[in-house]
Amino acid sequence: MLGSGFGELADAVQNADIISSKDIPHWPPSTVEGHSGQLVIGVLEGKTVLVQQGRAHYYEGHSIHQVTLPVRAMRELGITHVFFTNAAGGINQSFKNADLMAITDHINFLGFGGVSPLRGPNDPTLGPRFLDMLNAYDKDLRALAVNVAKEAGIDLKQGVYGALAGPTFESNAELRFLKIAGCDAVGMSTASEVIVARHGGMKVLAISGISNMVNLDGNTPTDHEEVLATGKILAPKLMTVLRGVLKNLEI
Ligand code: HPA
Repeated sequence: MLGSGFGELADAVQNADIISSKDIPHWPPSTVEGHSGQLVIGVLEGKTVLVQQGRAHYYEGHSIHQVTLPVRAMRELGITHVFFTNAAGGINQSFKNADLMAITDHINFLGFGGVSPLRGPNDPTLGPRFLDMLNAYDKDLRALAVNVAKEAGIDLKQGVYGALAGPTFESNAELRFLKIAGCDAVGMSTASEVIVARHGGMKVLAISGISNMVNLDGNTPTDHEEVLATGKILAPKLMTVLRGVLKNLEI
């Protein structure tokens, strides 16, 4: 699942069948610039992959169930491992622009506010009513990513992702709060998708590209152009890590 500015990662997929998500009934369209809305199905590093270029976001007006429908579909297709990527604002002051951060855990502020993709009747064939979220981000996959990054000379940070609904970037007080709460990075996606992936028993690796450092000093505004521009620097590093993990993954 490729986030803002990372769509080109799908170009390396071999023997690709490309499906426009517009042609799939009920698939949530992604309208944000930098998200192309295609599914690319083929082979990468010897593994069969489905790459989703761009995702739908809750702030676009879809229900959280619609936003996470692609993850349900992935499970129905027999997918066992899901790699999520996203662009995120760096809160941890030891991070810098264009760093990568393997997500160790999340704080899902949408969930605090009552927005859950598991809200409503539960179909037990899809997963349990009460889902345990401990260790949702697979330790072994993360360890593999760390090793691959190390060998490639990429400084892969690790940390907690705070998921907000957006589309506003954070206020000064919100940023101070997120920092105190233990978030290392903040973004507008991923956590709800991870919940659905875990509901379906899939293993999750998630990597944030730090597209901007948040403005704890309260002066420099964040803009989406910056997020997309940094995405271009991040994409090759992200690709190296994801390809390495795929290559070494024993499925
Ligand atoms: N805040 C929230 N979401 C983001 C940011 C940010 O600073 N950067 C990229 N996505």
